[in-house]
Amino acid sequence: MTGPDARPPALVLEDVGVARGGRTVWSQGTFTVRAGAVVGVIGPNGAGKTTLFQLALGLLPAATGRIEVLGSAPRRGNRRIGYVPQNYTAALGEAVRCRDLVTLGLTGGRFGLRRTSPAERARVDDALRRVGAADYAERRMSELSGGQQQRVAIAQAIVDEADLLLLDEPLANLDLRNQQEIVRLLGDLHRERDVTIMVVAHDLNPLLPVLTDAVYLLDGHPHHDEIGEVVQEELLTHLYGTPVGVVRTAQGDLFTRAAWREPQR
Ligand SMILES: Nc1ncnc2c1ncn2[C@@H]1O[C@H](COP(=O)(O)OP(=O)(O)O)[C@@H](O)[C@H]1O
Ligand SMILES: [Mg+2]
Repeated sequence: MTGPDARPPALVLEDVGVARGGRTVWSQGTFTVRAGAVVGVIGPNGAGKTTLFQLALGLLPAATGRIEVLGSAPRRGNRRIGYVPQNYTAALGEAVRCRDLVTLGLTGGRFGLRRTSPAERARVDDALRRVGAADYAERRMSELSGGQQQRVAIAQAIVDEADLLLLDEPLANLDLRNQQEIVRLLGDLHRERDVTIMVVAHDLNPLLPVLTDAVYLLDGHPHHDEIGEVVQEELLTHLYGTPVGVVRTAQGDLFTRAAWREPQR
């Protein structure tokens, strides 16, 4: 990139705390995610990763502090944010067709009430093509593999040209090859429009080729840093509560040796 990015940061938190059911989930969140970053969001089960996305989406108020998303206060239905919720594809009905799911990203709930325009259909086709799902656009989601379903879910999130993508565990339940293909897709989407991507993951390894930053939830507080600062043995071992090793290859790539498993609760 040449020169400083003129866009406002994708996400700014100033001393943010959040509570659910009368309990503080995390507090003292102060960090900035620059526009164009690709951010891994990591932390143990129940640490509040999904909660962070819900704050950014305006689905949940902060208990303390100030949040700014793409230069404004969070608001529900912000069309500049594309969101794929955790377990999204598993929660869909059997019958939903890929094309219809992507159309929802353009029209919200409205498409059942009227026909889509040729321009809207062209945008849906374009989104399906960009994620590599054009071949199965007419199929039902239930007929597809997990990797194919995740592509279609991402197509729904990008069809309205979002500036910020929030993907909650898009690699869950995918085999290694499919994980790598989704990661490659995220890299492609990032290169196309320099969109900011935040992605919740249990295992950073498959994402390392595309990540620039990480947000990690540790000891009840969110922290943000460049990815190289986060992929450190001591920090990751603390974060996951299990020994993690970091290996640097000749190309400068970073890998963690241990197979990460979240501590069972
Ligand atoms: N709808 C809810 N009502 C009350 N508490 C919730 C709700 N959703 C999540 N929580 C609690 O908030 C905490 C953080 O949850 P979540 O953000 O889903 O964690 P993560 O995504 O990191 O696994 C957990 O303790 C969870 O039990
Ligand atoms: Mg979650």
